[in-house]
Amino acid sequence: MGIAEAKKLYIETLGCAMNVRDSEHIIAELGDKENYVLTNNLQEADLILVNTCSVREKPVSKLFSEIGKYNLQKKEGAKIGVCGCTASHLGKEIFRRAPYVSFVIGARNVSKISTAVNTEKFLSVDTDYDESTYAFGEYRNSLYKAYVNISIGCDKKCTYCIVPQTRGDEISIPADLIVNEARKAAQNGAKEIFLLGQNVNNYGRRFSGNVERSMDFSDLLNLISEIPEVERIRFTSPHPLHMDDKFLETFANNPKVCKSMHMPLQSGSTHILEQMKRGYSKEWFLNRALKLREMIPDVSISTDIIVAFPGESEADFDDTLDVIRQVKFEQIFAFKYSPRPLTKAAEFTNQIDAEIGSARLERLQLLQDEILDEIAAKHLNKTYPVYIDELRNSGFLAGRSDNNALVQIKGDESLLGQTVNIKVTNPKRLSLYGEIVL
Ligand code: 5AD
Ligand code: SF4
Repeated sequence: MGIAEAKKLYIETLGCAMNVRDSEHIIAELGDKENYVLTNNLQEADLILVNTCSVREKPVSKLFSEIGKYNLQKKEGAKIGVCGCTASHLGKEIFRRAPYVSFVIGARNVSKISTAVNTEKFLSVDTDYDESTYAFGEYRNSLYKAYVNISIGCDKKCTYCIVPQTRGDEISIPADLIVNEARKAAQNGAKEIFLLGQNVNNYGRRFSGNVERSMDFSDLLNLISEIPEVERIRFTSPHPLHMDDKFLETFANNPKVCKSMHMPLQSGSTHILEQMKRGYSKEWFLNRALKLREMIPDVSISTDIIVAFPGESEADFDDTLDVIRQVKFEQIFAFKYSPRPLTKAAEFTNQIDAEIGSARLERLQLLQDEILDEIAAKHLNKTYPVYIDELRNSGFLAGRSDNNALVQIKGDESLLGQTVNIKVTNPKRLSLYGEIVL
């Protein structure tokens, strides 16, 4: 008897890095336990999985249009499964709207994927399920950089955000597991370790199994930096509220910690920040961001901003623009407020017209484009060490400078996984083009 032919898995991942990592775990589990291999040809797939996001309405509506389409295109007998944040928040409603779906597993239930594929109709969406110490198999999208979870869930109660409902309360993963995983990935060639959590700098408040340990995020960064094979450490997302001096100093002084910080502002208005329950003021945010700029002249700072949150006045929005002018973020992810079910802000009675939101988003982007042109111009003729980690379809090799600028050069795969000095010859807003110098 021959070995049974592998089944084919087609997986689509929406949303954030946490979801990308969950998909890697799913691929590993299905590969190790159920004999699945990946395909990017939908028609030959035995299992079609959509790993969803629910942070805004758009990805939720996209889910239903995607699976509707897949149901028409799939080969006979192929199963469709839904996992991730929308699976958590809609649960069995997904079976009602799309009866052809075989299973729905929530964001915190990834380890149940094997059971799900072997069950007629399977639903598991608990948000208090603890898989923080579950030993997933090894699968990574990239050989050169590795995502490593450090916590799951989120304890914050930001009034616009659905994530605490989809990913549950925050639990930190024990440091020894994190260090082992980082070491293994680095020894396999991933010189860059990317630590993941909803609120990474709140690490260590509560561990799985309620184990008592004394370890905060700064300690964890230092511990991981002791692994000789690890050359670069990145992380997302930190919370501005927990950016105390110890954290900023560790960030600034540990040479393996890359000098790019994500600081999700959300709004520059202290009044709106209160309505959002963010826990900090405009002044605190500016103080932390400007302190970082002072401590590390080359630091890059990125941010998330929500415009047209309920009750946002012109003056509130001007405060946001003011913070943008003062901090000059290297990257902004700006979104129009999207009311989410199960959140406080969706109940607020002072919702803002969609057109006002679109106009504000446009104004914000015009300002940011000016800032990006200014920043890009400063890169001309500068030389940066760049860790090359991707060969793009365009024929360009791509990598990141220590402070996270995307840099591209012409070249072949022999440079993948290497750090090379690149002189910038053509700086653009979203990417710097250059050539190797010795
Ligand atoms: N509407 C718009 N944007 C949102 N985000 C989170 N919730 C919402 C919402 N209801 C944004 C925040 C967060 C990013 C991941 O998504 O800016 O930082
Ligand atoms: Fe989307 Fe948030 Fe879930 Fe990530 S955690 S997939 S951003 S809803």
